[in-house]
Amino acid sequence: MTTINVINRDGSARAIAAAPGLSLMELIRDNGFDELLALCGGCCSCATCHVIVDDAFASQLPAMSDDENDLLDSSDHRAANSRLSCQIAVTPELDGMTVTIAAED
Ligand code: FES
Repeated sequence: MTTINVINRDGSARAIAAAPGLSLMELIRDNGFDELLALCGGCCSCATCHVIVDDAFASQLPAMSDDENDLLDSSDHRAANSRLSCQIAVTPELDGMTVTIAAED
C-alpha cells in the first residue's frame, strides 16, 4: 500500500492510501478532494488536476511530456515542482510523498 499526503487549498492535510495502479489524480479525486476538478478525466488536456509535489519526491517522478509542460505553462500558479496529477502513476516508490492541490486558475 502506498500512502500519499494531500494538502487541500485550505491548508488541511490528509493521508490517503492506495494500491498501485491508479493515477495520482484518480487517487485524490476518489478520496473526496472536490477541489481537484480533473475535468478532462485524465486526458492531459485541462490542467485542473494541477498539484505541487514536495521536493523530496519531485526528482523521482517520471519526466513530464511536452503536452504536460505546455498545459502547466497556462497556469498562473505554476511552481518549480508543479505536475499534472493525472500523468503520475501511483507506485510503491511514492510512499510518503506529499502533494499540495494548486490554487485554482
Ligand atoms: S485531468 Fe485534465 S489534465 Fe489532468
